[in-house]
Amino acid sequence: MTPPPALSIAEAADAIRRGLLVGMPTETVYGLAANALDARAVLRVFEAKGRPRFDPLIVHCADLAMARTIARFSPRAERLAALWPGPLTLVLPRLPCIPDAVTAGLDNVAVRIPDHPLALALIRAAGMPLAAPSANRFGRISPTTAAHVVEQLGDAVACVLDGGPCRVGVESTVLRPDPSPVVLRPGGVTREQLTEVLGEPVVLADRSARVEALPQEAPGLLASHYAPRAPLRLRTPGGEWPLDAALLAFTGTDLPAGAVHAILSPTGDLAEAAASLFARLRQLDAAGPQLIVAELVPENGLGEAVNDRLRRAAGLG
Ligand code: TXA
Ligand code: MG
Repeated sequence: MTPPPALSIAEAADAIRRGLLVGMPTETVYGLAANALDARAVLRVFEAKGRPRFDPLIVHCADLAMARTIARFSPRAERLAALWPGPLTLVLPRLPCIPDAVTAGLDNVAVRIPDHPLALALIRAAGMPLAAPSANRFGRISPTTAAHVVEQLGDAVACVLDGGPCRVGVESTVLRPDPSPVVLRPGGVTREQLTEVLGEPVVLADRSARVEALPQEAPGLLASHYAPRAPLRLRTPGGEWPLDAALLAFTGTDLPAGAVHAILSPTGDLAEAAASLFARLRQLDAAGPQLIVAELVPENGLGEAVNDRLRRAAGLG
């Protein structure tokens, strides 16, 4: 990765201070960043993404001192902060400096410290926390390269900082620590890691209680998340691969000869599968297939996040 010159960090920070939007690399996916303390800038994020205003944003901080200016930390939250910087978002009681636009009026704010030198440099240079959802149009595949951001939101941003491909590749784990720890969205930090830090069980919220869940009463009201243009179906476990679809395989050992396909990790490594997931999905989708068929990966470790994204892409969120 070639780091952009310091000049571009200064220019990007200047754009943020003027209320504009910046494409920001993080270790998970690229974010569409705005000054989290400026309600008008935050509203521009919703507009650019086509995102409904009731879906709150994550606020990115450079360090724990900054995080403490926007949220109240419980003893559990203090322990979890040991995983920062990293792909973990904590949902905590908000402090008054955070505008309603960021939290969609909720009493809690989602906070994280990203593990990426350019994100941290941008937050520090701007001098304030940055609200940033994934930098994709609402409901589409999250971006893991600067080119992906330009493709979907090029017109909406003052600039995109290019940090190369994202290391983790799936979004942060969203966790509500209190009154008992619940994962609202599986992501880059595994439940095994969370349990180890907390020394207590960490449950995954019911499908319907998770963030990004499709509304039960009104299916079809919101687009499914992470959706490619082509319809996506999950492969029947143990079943045959179809011959008339583009195939997304985990290790690819049993793919039929000649099939249009992409492989997440030839060696069966879940971290590699997570890192390549969104780019492989985009690659298959770009060829314009009638249908994409994807197989689930083992449901442990990062597999929980990978499978969550695949199910949502199939409209089973
Ligand atoms: O890795 C990530 O988390 C990336 C990078 C850019 O940091 N960001 C990201 O943001 O994935 P976004 O907006 O695509 O997803 C944030 C999720 C949403 O599902 C939102 O509903 C949830 O976090 N969220 C935000 N604030 C919340 C709150 N106060 N309470 C509960 N859920 C919240
Ligand atoms: Mg998103």
